[in-house]
Amino acid sequence: MTELRERPAWKALEAHYEEIRDAHLRELFATDPQRAEYFIADGAGLHLDFSKNRITSETLALLAELARECEVEKRRDAMFRGEHINVSEDRAVLHVALRMNANRSLNVDGVDVVKEVHDVLDRMGDFSYRIRSGDWKGHTGKPIRNVVNIGIGGSDLGPVMAYEALRHYSQRDLTFRFVSNIDGTDFVECTRDLDPAETLFIVASKTFTTLETMTNARTAREWSLAGLGGDEAAVAKHFVALSTNAEEVAKFGIDTANMFGFWEWVGGRYSMDSAIGLSTMLAIGYVAFQEMLAGFAEMDAHFCEAPVESNLPMLMGLLSVWYGDFFGAETCAVLPYDQYLHRFPAYLQQLTMESNGKHVTLDGTRVDYDTGAIYWGEPGTNGQHSFYQLIHQGTRLIPCDFIGFMHSNNPLGEHHDLLMSNVFAQSEALAFGKTPEQVREEGTAEEVVPHRVMEGNRPSNTILAERLTPESLGSLVALYEHSVFTQGAIWGVDSFDQWGVELGKALAVAIIPELQADEEPDLNHDSSTNALIRRYRQARRERDPADEPTPNPAGRESAE
Ligand code: F6P
Repeated sequence: MTELRERPAWKALEAHYEEIRDAHLRELFATDPQRAEYFIADGAGLHLDFSKNRITSETLALLAELARECEVEKRRDAMFRGEHINVSEDRAVLHVALRMNANRSLNVDGVDVVKEVHDVLDRMGDFSYRIRSGDWKGHTGKPIRNVVNIGIGGSDLGPVMAYEALRHYSQRDLTFRFVSNIDGTDFVECTRDLDPAETLFIVASKTFTTLETMTNARTAREWSLAGLGGDEAAVAKHFVALSTNAEEVAKFGIDTANMFGFWEWVGGRYSMDSAIGLSTMLAIGYVAFQEMLAGFAEMDAHFCEAPVESNLPMLMGLLSVWYGDFFGAETCAVLPYDQYLHRFPAYLQQLTMESNGKHVTLDGTRVDYDTGAIYWGEPGTNGQHSFYQLIHQGTRLIPCDFIGFMHSNNPLGEHHDLLMSNVFAQSEALAFGKTPEQVREEGTAEEVVPHRVMEGNRPSNTILAERLTPESLGSLVALYEHSVFTQGAIWGVDSFDQWGVELGKALAVAIIPELQADEEPDLNHDSSTNALIRRYRQARRERDPADEPTPNPAGRESAE
């Protein structure tokens, strides 16, 4: 048995689970109506109501004890000191340095990383000012009006989520697009109505070797040059790079003077507040970007200072462990009630699942408990008319995070009251449901009663903030970052590597020549993979003229 399952707090939680597993939230609220007054916590401008969880004070005490036994706080402090807590890659994990105030310093491996962070932020600020003001001119002398971020994973999901979330604060005469998929459709559809003379490409890649990004970047270069008369000098005006790899940036043909750097201690999925956030800064400006960083920093401070029992990220992380490892919940739904947060669940999927989708502990031992849950979600109220049925009446337990704001950025008649009434109604319905007696009292025919019963006892967190602003977005993202950290520290896994994505990448690279070879290649895969490759090759041979590659379709079209 692994160390975690031997821990006294874990064993106590197992015993406690047997006592509490059938307790209904109706009873928990009936016997303790005050629970909504103490199962709440506030930090960094966010309010967390976790009273609609299947917990008692004893559960909370035991979970806090588990955090202490697993030394979550010690591990957190090691992260903030810049120790190499990413053991499998022997790296520091210092996204928290990205939002440290300029008057701080943090020496890591002999370098003051805070100074480096602010040097890059200042350069990003100058560049943003020049683009936003129209001072930076494209190759033909026109100002930039379109910004296309090319990246994938952490070099896409954070930027696109933040752009959408903060659109209200964005400079509206600039158009932002995000190309991530290696499917040519993504590039073509993102650029087809853009004028190359007014388009800036941001090539965002920590490694600058990612197949999808480099392929899209090469296509962008061809598109740009085709639309600008083929003069290589145009690249300097229309391409910038965000990367840790200056050598590859230069090899690609982007002048490193047009590169905004970051460092190996920033994980891809933790990088939206590094240079990877350049598109965000171009959209909302330097000052608002700083406000976002301040929101992150407020949550960092809360995470470091608040006791476990009132520490938002620790509470959320511990509750995830409670449901995942004791109740056997496999997923967690994140349900933002703000249209601007429509990409937030997609962003969280990488943050949570690439971080904690791990099967061994730090020392390589196979875990004998479940780790990272499957995160998913959609903005409310759309989800209510789609998958909420299963959460309410299905057979699976799906803990939910509801996210809402007191004030709308687009106050429109009674829209916001109606929206927020749904947040409160959904968590109430999930927790308390509807008994057979209540259904009968409504005059329901007996044979329909079972269909209309809502068992309830579906747990949820409600996270509220005053308004969606750059600052509150920063706090919200940091909340989940540190919740992920807390879960990883309990499970004893490396939340900062991602070896699981490597095999598929390597196999794809090996298969490319097998698809393209003129001669029938020797295929040494399994029989299924061999057959699929042969089938594709056959279809490729039979291509009609419409399938012929068109290197610069959009460039030609928009240049006309
Ligand atoms: O999918 C694996 C991954 O390495 C992610 O962790 C990362 O965010 C993404 O690829 C993109 O990597 P890069 O920024 O180096 O292009």
